[in-house]
Amino acid sequence: MPAYDDSDFGDSTPLNQAKSHDINRAPSNNLSAGGLAIPGDGSSDAHGTAHSIEVPATRSSIADASHYMHNLSLSPSMRDRRGSRNSFGTSLPIPRSKRQSRLSSVHYPEGVAQRPGMPPIQPSRDIIAAQLQDLAGEKVTAAKDMAFVFDIDGVLVHGDRLIPEGKRVLEILNGENELGIKIPHIFLTNGSGKREVPRVEQLSKILHNPISTEQFIQSHTPMRALAEYYKTVLVVGGEGYKCREVAEEYGFEDIVVPNDIIAWDPTIAPYRVFTEEERKTSRPRDFSKTNIDAIMVFSDSRDYATDIQIIMDLLQSENGRFGTRAADPVSQRIPIYFSQGDMLCPTEHPFPRMSQGAFRIGLEAMYKSLTGVDLERVVYGKPELATYKYADEVIASWMETIHNDERLPKNIYMIGDNPASDIIGGNMYGWNTCLVRTGVFQGGENDEENPANFGVFKNVYEAVTTAMKKELGQDFKFEFNESINPSTHGIGASAIE
Ligand code: G3P
Ligand code: MG
Repeated sequence: MPAYDDSDFGDSTPLNQAKSHDINRAPSNNLSAGGLAIPGDGSSDAHGTAHSIEVPATRSSIADASHYMHNLSLSPSMRDRRGSRNSFGTSLPIPRSKRQSRLSSVHYPEGVAQRPGMPPIQPSRDIIAAQLQDLAGEKVTAAKDMAFVFDIDGVLVHGDRLIPEGKRVLEILNGENELGIKIPHIFLTNGSGKREVPRVEQLSKILHNPISTEQFIQSHTPMRALAEYYKTVLVVGGEGYKCREVAEEYGFEDIVVPNDIIAWDPTIAPYRVFTEEERKTSRPRDFSKTNIDAIMVFSDSRDYATDIQIIMDLLQSENGRFGTRAADPVSQRIPIYFSQGDMLCPTEHPFPRMSQGAFRIGLEAMYKSLTGVDLERVVYGKPELATYKYADEVIASWMETIHNDERLPKNIYMIGDNPASDIIGGNMYGWNTCLVRTGVFQGGENDEENPANFGVFKNVYEAVTTAMKKELGQDFKFEFNESINPSTHGIGASAIE
């Protein structure tokens, strides 16, 4: 059961009540007494069906930057740090049903059409596996009651480079085990900046295993739900125009990116060298006549100076209109969303590089200095509750694809390398957590602040095989023996041992 409770969110309203209340909330850009309100301009279709649900944010009353500006010696507790990601009064909409938002797409490394989550079709192998599974009742029941949630960077890959154990565990979970059974697994990454389809295509190739968009969540995937709330949005971050493509796919109606604004008025970004190619590919218009309803930081900024300048202009404007300055910096401020809050990201460079969290804290500090007030903001991604709730939707849906049984399995294992995001989130959500040593975590026996509850492992193979042995028996084997003929190898589980 999830370990979050309402008091964790500083809100005594039960989630089910909050949902119906919040969905009919204040008009666009208004701030509730407690903070940033998300507009409910009819979060429903023509038939009155809402496509999103709202999850209370884990949050604090002040921006993270305040910690650094006022008291550098503050060392927030695990609870405080969890609460420091979002502003008071915010909710994070997520798609109501995974099924409604499916863009079904499975990518196979060799490009051959096959079954979701399975190696190439081999009828005789399937028949043998089915017979073995018929004979191994208890093990099969246990296997159908477990699932894995994988962090990606630092667990399965480093950027575009495979962590070899990652390939091996996916083979095991796709049927290379003594039962020939598929074990449901999903991918939950704070990565961003690309549409889901090309991202799973790329991952399938690197990992040499088929991966479906239906088992994949990146930081901005749940933000698809926000397309129902805002008409014109500024999308920030990522390479070229890839995040515009992401927003288009999510159904945002009117998408603006910083290049469109610079092409309209280059004086907005005095230090930017704007190329002819960028000018040709941008979509300028008269932004003094357009109200931007919200800012979505989908991925890492490629040009902090330009992006921060444009965001600051909008945050200080009257309801998101360039060329204006709001009389009151709070009541006319448009909302700003970030797809994740990681401060650092491991790369090829010896020291981790700054990520979206660092960009956000810089922006918060500048905003506070220039306006005197804290910036209210919303952050998605791990370890935010909304992202884990969405993961539940995806797991249940994938359980149906794999086992024809749409429910949450009893034993969910999160495998991650970052204690401050993968592990803290999994712990709070009541999952078993495994910390691996192939990424961000470089510590001793376990992380001191956010210890993994199932343990620390050398790599993903050690973590997955230990978890499977716990659930399926210490003697469980991680290969499928096709030469076994159940009908001639006796009856019962012994035949497969
Ligand atoms: O911090 C950005 C991203 O690279 C983290 O990815 O897969 O470790 O959540 P992941
Ligand atoms: Mg990671």
